[in-house]
Amino acid sequence: MEQTAKLIVDGKTYELPIVVGTEGERGIDISRLRQETGLITLDPGYANTGSCKSGITFMDGEKGILRYRGIPIEQLAEHSTFTETAYLLLNGELPTREQLTNFSILLNDHSLVHEDMREFFENFPRRAHPMGILSSMVNALRAFYPQLPESSEDENVNVMSTRLLSKVRTMAAMSYKISKGHKVVYPRHDLTYAANFLNMMFDSPVLPYRIDEVLVEGLNVFWILHADHEQNCSTAAVRLVGSARVNLYAAISSGISALWGPLHGGANQAVVEMLKEIQANNGDVKPFIKRAKDKKDPFRLMGFGHRVYKTYDPRARIMKKVCDKVLNRLKQKDELLDIAGKLEEIALKDPYFIDHNLYPNVDFYTGIFLQALGIPINMFTVMFAIGRLPGWISQWRESIDDPQWKLHRPRQIYTGSKERDYVPMKDRNSSKGKP
Ligand code: CMC
Repeated sequence: MEQTAKLIVDGKTYELPIVVGTEGERGIDISRLRQETGLITLDPGYANTGSCKSGITFMDGEKGILRYRGIPIEQLAEHSTFTETAYLLLNGELPTREQLTNFSILLNDHSLVHEDMREFFENFPRRAHPMGILSSMVNALRAFYPQLPESSEDENVNVMSTRLLSKVRTMAAMSYKISKGHKVVYPRHDLTYAANFLNMMFDSPVLPYRIDEVLVEGLNVFWILHADHEQNCSTAAVRLVGSARVNLYAAISSGISALWGPLHGGANQAVVEMLKEIQANNGDVKPFIKRAKDKKDPFRLMGFGHRVYKTYDPRARIMKKVCDKVLNRLKQKDELLDIAGKLEEIALKDPYFIDHNLYPNVDFYTGIFLQALGIPINMFTVMFAIGRLPGWISQWRESIDDPQWKLHRPRQIYTGSKERDYVPMKDRNSSKGKP
């Protein structure tokens, strides 16, 4: 029997259908609300708004659950590779051996970047942020590969998806090499996706890069953990921009821009900067905890809190183990990891953090891992972006196939001036005028 919710407005009762998801989560379908009642809902930040139905990723923020296509993140992190997980997200099922081989061949085939694009890279100011460069370059792909799919069934959708997955990784490494004024290293057919990336970043004519399987495994896990996260800010941006039926490159470019923000993907960089600040402050975490709790201070403990997780982020738990393993392998002791541990210990016992349900999120440990790999700090968010690509592309593909597809166009409650007349310049009182 269909469940409904009752809404009473001005004495009149409206019945609104309740939609139930496969994991039992429930939402009130208000798609006919305005038509029937003349009212809209107001939900700043969309914290209570479901923008779509999706069969890709399930998360339960209260229980700390994350699953891609039904498979728990813990199992994927333990057994899968990033390439296999990307296939799963894009196609809905784990690949057979043959399907995975074909997918890897396709990724290799599309790994090179058009040589003319190098000029673009070289003309960005040396200090330009790599996320700005990446978002512009992804948008520019449209000009280099103008053939767009006619429909979602078109084989070109697969080609565009693999092109993005493969080329964004190459472009990220390329921008790093160019920013250093070093020779660009090309992708190699004989290397796996993650090993290829590390080689393109760190191989040099004077010092060949030695690929270490523990680092490759760590990078695979890092990217798997970032591969999708249902309707987060950047994915919502991809869906919103994509809803105007713009091409995939432009939609992904907007996702990259959204991810850049320090409250979203930029947090991994912000965490390491914060930990370094604590280090410079003799490793004393208490003043930082105090500042984070002070309502008059805009400072926040970076890497803590999440819009959906109200418990420990399952990705943070996995990432912490990866950090330990990689640092052990490199025989490194990172003082920042100790500071992070101290911060976590104190914050988790503090009533402010307990009452606000603030726990470490994935970004709390990823910066330390990326630093151990040798990734420069301004490339951290680019690493997140490479990982999030399969999610963005899968969500875009799902949205263009959605029978309930609609142009995203939220409404508002207007709070500005009532209607008033235009005042000619000569009659305006400058002392009253604002700017
Ligand atoms: N440090 C101190 N206080 C915090 C923090 C924090 N990191 N996060 C939230 N709060 C407080 C906030 O001050 C507010 O307090 P009050 O209700 O007393 O005014 C309350 O918690 C709710 O905050 P909010 O900003 O309304 O909550 P939100 O759900 O919009 O915030 C968040 C989610 C991730 C933006 C926020 O927790 C934050 O800014 N965290 C730090 C940045 C960060 O680590 N971002 C990475 C997110 S995980 C990666 C990803 O998936 O993008």
